[in-house]
Amino acid sequence: MKTAIYPGSFDPCTNGHLDIIKRASTMFDKLIVVVLINPLKSYSFSISERRALLEKATTGMKNIEIDSYDGLLADYFTQRSDVDVIVKGLRATSDFEYEFQMAHTNKDLNSRAETVFIPASATTTFISSSMVKQVAMFGGDLSKYVPSVIHKEISTRLKAEFEEKKRLAALKQDL
Ligand code: COA
Repeated sequence: MKTAIYPGSFDPCTNGHLDIIKRASTMFDKLIVVVLINPLKSYSFSISERRALLEKATTGMKNIEIDSYDGLLADYFTQRSDVDVIVKGLRATSDFEYEFQMAHTNKDLNSRAETVFIPASATTTFISSSMVKQVAMFGGDLSKYVPSVIHKEISTRLKAEFEEKKRLAALKQDL
């Protein structure tokens, strides 16, 4: 039985992520999608919101588990003795340098932690969570970029966040 983990921020989960999840789930007996924290990023969605969105997006997919972890991926790998490999998606050569560095760091921290890369499908190579957030905040149509079951929830939540930011910025100007 081979188990892989697919780590990421998933802020929010996009069709690009779902593409990798679907394809990786056919390559391994079990795929654990784990929401982690990149301390250099600021997030729109809390960890529990990101988990809930992933759970909805993967409903009906039998060999998928959704998890989250507040710590190093290498430590999560150490704790989960059932995990064999890390899966990451590569959208373009620009992803490569960063992913290569992370793969080596994870292996250095835990010699068992091997990473395999799956090339993103051609139709999803331009999608990123930041792009999705920008489109949603200005009221654009997200339906092509995020799973249909979570598209309305993501749009509503991000529009509300943007309105709140604008309200706070206006308040600051009035002071
Ligand atoms: N399709 C679409 N978009 C994709 C994608 C795909 N297949 N693969 C990645 N992306 C996008 C993401 O949406 C994200 O977009 P954004 O930058 O606009 O938010 C971007 O590519 C990077 O995604 P991700 O691979 O999730 O990187 P990240 O920097 O957000 O998160 C962690 C990386 C969370 C996995 C990493 O920081 C981590 O392991 N954190 C735990 C602490 C740790 O161990 N640190 C690392 C030591 S090396």
